Amino acid sequence: MTKALEGSRFFIKTFGCQMNENDSEHIAGLLAGAGAAKAASLENSDIIIINTCAVRAKSEEKADSFLGRLSALQKKRDVVIAIAGCSAQLRRGELLRRKPRIDLVVGPGRYHELPALVAERGSGGRVATGRSRAWREMGPDATLREDPSSAYVPIMEGCDNFCAYCVVPFVRGREKCRPMERVLAEVADAGTRGYKEVQLLGQNVNSYRDPGTGAGFAELLDLVSRVGGIAWIRFLTSHPRDLGPEIARVMANRPTVCRQLHLPLQSGSSAVLGRMNRGYTRTGYMEKITMLKDLMPDIRLSTDIIVGYPGETEADFEESLSALDEVGFDNIFSFRYSPRPRTAAAKLPDDVPPEVKRRRLIVLQDRQKRLQLERNRSSVGTVVRVLGTGVSRKGGGRFTGRSEGSQVVNFTAPEDVRGRFVDVLITDCGPYSLIGEAAGTGR
Ligand code: 5AD
Ligand code: SF4
Repeated sequence: MTKALEGSRFFIKTFGCQMNENDSEHIAGLLAGAGAAKAASLENSDIIIINTCAVRAKSEEKADSFLGRLSALQKKRDVVIAIAGCSAQLRRGELLRRKPRIDLVVGPGRYHELPALVAERGSGGRVATGRSRAWREMGPDATLREDPSSAYVPIMEGCDNFCAYCVVPFVRGREKCRPMERVLAEVADAGTRGYKEVQLLGQNVNSYRDPGTGAGFAELLDLVSRVGGIAWIRFLTSHPRDLGPEIARVMANRPTVCRQLHLPLQSGSSAVLGRMNRGYTRTGYMEKITMLKDLMPDIRLSTDIIVGYPGETEADFEESLSALDEVGFDNIFSFRYSPRPRTAAAKLPDDVPPEVKRRRLIVLQDRQKRLQLERNRSSVGTVVRVLGTGVSRKGGGRFTGRSEGSQVVNFTAPEDVRGRFVDVLITDCGPYSLIGEAAGTGR
């Protein structure tokens, strides 16, 4: 029997977070299961999926500009264009009225229908954005992974927190947790397929509960850490309010759990945190950091910071700056506040002028750059274990990889070390990466 999409070639463009990257791997798996093959390039494709992010206006603008580039292609070839992801969920019907012509709009809860929708592709466009309240299992067979050494494994989706600025609960829906045995089976499967690292994914992983037994995230993490074949386990994203000592103890006690944590602070000012509905104060956050560092003095931390939130004063902003000094993050992701439809903050006046937002972002990033350079300098002269992930375009035996602490390491090695662990002697650094040479390789 020929499959519905036999002979077609697909191209997926992904915007946004790791959850979207993983969703694109599922979409690729589903299309491949229906007989389509991955296209060598955009120009050679028959099915184009744009997996969008809605978290900031800028993420949507980037997807729109990519879409604009497809007009020319659409004149030359008969292509099916589908918009998937968070912005598809948020903008739905509005997208169908846009140019170039969009054939399908598919929200995150409906990807399993994509092959059939693409095969039907009726004229005038189709929208599938309804959501289910239960976890929808995709499984490892419906996943075409991008990274040969690190596997994403989703454990939950959606969010019940309703931070005032965030559109995620409106596009990904309420929290839905994946059954623990399915998570463990996918991790074990990744181990047998040769993946060295697993990243457990969810919008708020710390509030994970097994739908059957009610077992929490600490228990899940402990069991995952005992699955054979996987050397490094990471998880994201954590919410500071829900990160308790049980989780920190598993991180400290289980050698396969990386001593690295992404813990979004958002603002160093308790007044701003209150208006953001984050559920913790600056002091509460710092107490979590102290707990983590007491258990793991070598832990590496990263965070997200928003500047220019409604009502953010210069003094509030100074508190975000001093939080960087106080914690000592190895990496930060920082953003200018962007009002999003349907959120509580969208009703507040967006009263920090654009040029002030811009200046604060630059000041924040400059401060972090200095701190990061200092931190990276303290690694020079040490040997760091690195998972090789890619080869440098410059050639000459140069590779790139990540340390247990998730630092980018560029290094030379005498042989191809992609997908393998390497001990790297760090000889130099910049603010955003370590530089070194392989001192020994392992499996
Ligand atoms: N404006 C700016 N940044 C935002 N983020 C989420 N919503 C907004 C918004 N409306 C940031 C937060 C979050 C990260 C994924 O994106 O810092 O942690
Ligand atoms: Fe990821 Fe949130 Fe962006 Fe969706 S809106 S892609 S969940 S960051």
